[in-house]
Amino acid sequence: MPSLSLTLASDHPIPFLADLMTRSFEGYLVPINITETVMHTMIRRDGIDLTASRVLMKDDEPVGLAMIARRGWTSRLAAMGITSNARSGGVGAWAMEQLIAEAKIRDEKEMLLEVIEQNIAGVKLYEKVGFTNIRRLIGYKLDTNLAQGGVPAAEESAQNGYGGLSGQNDIEEIDIRELARMVTYHGMKDLPWQLSGTTIMQHTPPSRAFRLNDAYCLISNPDATDIAIQSVLVKSRSRGAGLSVVLMRALFAKFPNKVWHVSPIYPEEIGFVFEHVGMQRESLSQWQMSRTL
Ligand SMILES: CC(C)(COP(=O)(O)OP(=O)(O)OC[C@H]1O[C@@H](n2cnc3c(N)ncnc32)[C@H](O)[C@@H]1OP(=O)(O)O)[C@@H](O)C(=O)NCCC(=O)NCCS
Repeated sequence: MPSLSLTLASDHPIPFLADLMTRSFEGYLVPINITETVMHTMIRRDGIDLTASRVLMKDDEPVGLAMIARRGWTSRLAAMGITSNARSGGVGAWAMEQLIAEAKIRDEKEMLLEVIEQNIAGVKLYEKVGFTNIRRLIGYKLDTNLAQGGVPAAEESAQNGYGGLSGQNDIEEIDIRELARMVTYHGMKDLPWQLSGTTIMQHTPPSRAFRLNDAYCLISNPDATDIAIQSVLVKSRSRGAGLSVVLMRALFAKFPNKVWHVSPIYPEEIGFVFEHVGMQRESLSQWQMSRTL
């Protein structure tokens, strides 16, 4: 019987961790290639604690990686993978039990994660160790080169007079930190980790933040062909008036001929805003899961 053990991720160099993570996600539903830069960005943006993250050893061989992010009483399993030669033999379940026990020793109260709904082994693993679903997370896509009849102007989609008020329909670029403060104050309290104000606060140029009246939007570098919508928010007092739709349409017009992406980290209950701007739902979705400690 091989012996399993955990070593501190902080005891290993970043290039080793990046390579091990890439190998641990071999054959995944979406191709994963973790470079050193990607690893550094994940650690900084998502709040990963390398002293709480673990490299999984089978005898002397590294066979997996678990990245743990931490904020207050909550931790998040930011990545978990087992190299293909060591899968489906109980290693993942053993590692999860250790990680949960370690989080309890740290006096944390909850562990969070997101898992692709179509990842059968992943979902079964997390259910087996006591995680339950909070909600489904969904993504969208729109190629504005192909959009039928072009993208309507912001004015056409305005409701309740927002679009018609002269001088109030201009989009204004703002500091990403201002947007992050709005998300923290007005956003859902249990937003997925990557959409939380704390994570949004870590975004930097070439990402850019825009405001139109009480609507806010963060996008990845708009000079690229593909642009990700990284945050959308309307202040509580102005919800229900289609303001986020007006802002997104204004951005589609400002940066024409792009492919716009919403990665599957958005709560299903707010998906309608992306449908209202003509985006198509992606086939992959995720479960946002939680385990009380
Ligand atoms: C998901 C993953 C971490 C599971 O680790 P593992 O060591 O293979 O899992 P285990 O052998 O401990 O199995 C745990 C449970 O998962 C399920 N499972 C494991 N392999 C499975 C497979 N190939 N098909 C269906 N279910 C499977 C089983 O229900 C199993 O419990 P059981 O044996 O009591 O029935 C691993 O398959 C992996 O690294 N995959 C690629 C990366 C990935 O998907 N990571 C998760 C991202 S959130």
